[in-house]
Amino acid sequence: MPLPVLLLGTGKVGSALLSLLRQRQLPLALHAVANSRRMLLSDQPLAPDAVRRELRKRGQGTCLHRLVGDFSTRFANGLVIDLTASPEVAASHTDWLASGLQLATANKWAAAGKDGAVLQRWAAQGRYAMATTVGAGLPLLNTLRELHSAGERIARVEGILSGTLSYLFQRHAQGERLSRCLLDALENGLTEPDPRDDLSGLDVARKLVILGQAAGFDTDLANVDVSSLVPRAWLGRSVSQCLQDTAALDAHVSKQSGLPPSPEAVLVPVASLTPEAASVGLRWVTPDHPLARCRPGDNMVEIQSSSYQALPLLIQGPGAGAEVTASRLLGELHLAVEAGSVLA
Ligand SMILES: NC(=O)c1ccc[n+]([C@@H]2O[C@H](COP(=O)([O-])OP(=O)(O)OC[C@H]3O[C@@H](n4cnc5c(N)ncnc54)[C@H](OP(=O)(O)O)[C@@H]3O)[C@@H](O)[C@H]2O)c1
Repeated sequence: MPLPVLLLGTGKVGSALLSLLRQRQLPLALHAVANSRRMLLSDQPLAPDAVRRELRKRGQGTCLHRLVGDFSTRFANGLVIDLTASPEVAASHTDWLASGLQLATANKWAAAGKDGAVLQRWAAQGRYAMATTVGAGLPLLNTLRELHSAGERIARVEGILSGTLSYLFQRHAQGERLSRCLLDALENGLTEPDPRDDLSGLDVARKLVILGQAAGFDTDLANVDVSSLVPRAWLGRSVSQCLQDTAALDAHVSKQSGLPPSPEAVLVPVASLTPEAASVGLRWVTPDHPLARCRPGDNMVEIQSSSYQALPLLIQGPGAGAEVTASRLLGELHLAVEAGSVLA
């Protein structure tokens, strides 16, 4: 019997998921869908390639409270897939789980927030699939959870956790001004519409909180030491005003990083996590350091634990991308269904 699904979000990852559902034979039946504008609940499963048309034709103005209520009345153990970036949607995750629904999400707001510890417990039971909230398709979060569950003492998790920042700083390391790299990244759709969301370091800080909790640490967003790359002059301005003053970004980063310890040193955006502390900032490394060789746009994370002490476990690859994210989310769901933790 296929698992009834409600999909929230038809943006980049939501569209990639619909396209994979079209291509792959999975035991999922799409009965409801919504974006921020329209929603639709259907007794008959919706064909993934007809979703946009059906939303336009039969959809109503979005009221998530009503949609989720009606969906859970019809499908008591149904699965909600949250592919929005909305903190408001994330705020309902624990209530939905408590009502008997199951959840899969790439939206990190809930797991990085006050309900993080509770959600990690739901995740451990296989009813909250959240692997894609950090590192997109990379096998990072579940690896950490498995190490912790096996009794490994995790000493340190460290690396580059933002595809946007790795793009900017790897290009910068090749001699390009950081402001030029930012303008290129914006032009190629590699940043958030407001690049301050990437430069502030808060998105990376949220990922550290999620990783910290999976590693069994007591990591809290309020205690992550974040060195923002947003120049003071950019605060309170519109995006276009900021982009007219890109020299402020170069000056701010240069002041924050200080002088390189050697002419070959490479500046990298490092997120660091130990049982006691978490930080997001810039660091000079030698050219032979693994982080200096991270490809533009990739993530690269070292995990140091009892079994991986002298040579840390290294996980690297694309840290963003709608297709890899959607594919991993489906893989995680498939395993949960097979294990019987998700009730199909
Ligand atoms: N893109 C990636 O490579 C990537 C990788 C890993 C994780 N993620 C995470 O995956 C999630 C989706 O990312 P994305 O790139 O697909 O974002 P996106 O393209 O901006 O799409 C977001 C979707 O969410 C919908 N939405 C927003 N608020 C909503 C609400 N209150 N109720 C219902 N729908 C709502 C939007 O509706 P409208 O269409 O009406 O605007 C849109 O369809 C985010 O949490 C992101 O952090 C993304």
